[in-house]
Amino acid sequence: MKNEHPLVVVCATITEMHAQIAQARSTGKSVGCVPTMGYLHEGHASLIRVAAQNHPFVVVSIFVNPTQFGPSEDFERYPRDLERDMQIASEAGATHVFLPSVQEMYPDEVRSTIHIDGITDVLEGASRPTHFDGVATVVARLFQAMLPDEAYFGQKDLQQTLVIRKLVATSTDDAVRSTKVTVLPTVREEDGLAKSSRNVYLNDVDRRDATAIYDALCSARDQIVAGCSSRATIELLMKVMLQRVDRLEIDYAVAVEAESLRLDSDTLPAHVALCIAARLGGTRLIDNMLVERPTT
Ligand code: PAF
Repeated sequence: MKNEHPLVVVCATITEMHAQIAQARSTGKSVGCVPTMGYLHEGHASLIRVAAQNHPFVVVSIFVNPTQFGPSEDFERYPRDLERDMQIASEAGATHVFLPSVQEMYPDEVRSTIHIDGITDVLEGASRPTHFDGVATVVARLFQAMLPDEAYFGQKDLQQTLVIRKLVATSTDDAVRSTKVTVLPTVREEDGLAKSSRNVYLNDVDRRDATAIYDALCSARDQIVAGCSSRATIELLMKVMLQRVDRLEIDYAVAVEAESLRLDSDTLPAHVALCIAARLGGTRLIDNMLVERPTT
């Protein structure tokens, strides 16, 4: 691809990436990275901007990772717009874009896969059984390629951030275990819908109805802050609010402990994660909110 953004260096191979990083490190520069699947939006731009405030070398990876999509999911039609991505990355302060091929990321015929236990069998993992193996595997390989001091992710994919933290904490690979993981708040549209590359799939009616998810999260949060401690009450509230939109198919709407994403009792813990996944038309949307339960 011809680079129309001369301020951004494009690397297609791990060797090129390592050469750029070696040069940066030789002049004392630290490296921040923002792993993405492209089709960048304001959520990604906000991560890149913070990375650029903290690191003189900022690499954004753009790689639609086939291994995190299930067989009936949207890998083929996942939105792609490299020219626009380059523009957004460059304006937000990226110095480098890592644009590997599938062959570059997965050269092995027999695919080795990283599986993170414990956190991956609930919520998204229950609905998308191989998804987090794909995420953990590609993130480890991206860290090995980009050798970052710090990597930035959005809270929108809460479970993914917990999987990545566990990947880093348990890895025996230097590049992976030395990466600091920073999670930044979800960026939202004015009406509250979480920014997502997949929002492009929503038609006007879907788009209008999609706000029910944020509304349900806000109402649940307000009830907890007002003193409600019953998980059943909070989950019922979210479901009732979501069911106001006939077309919306709920996958889950739960209140769980924010680190384990589980909860066995009816009493809410101190740190609550409200998590929703629902389908509108053909599009699966996820969102979450972290809430501290009042102690008095
Ligand atoms: O969040 C994403 O865009 C992807 O899951 C990630 C972390 C880039 C891995 O492919």
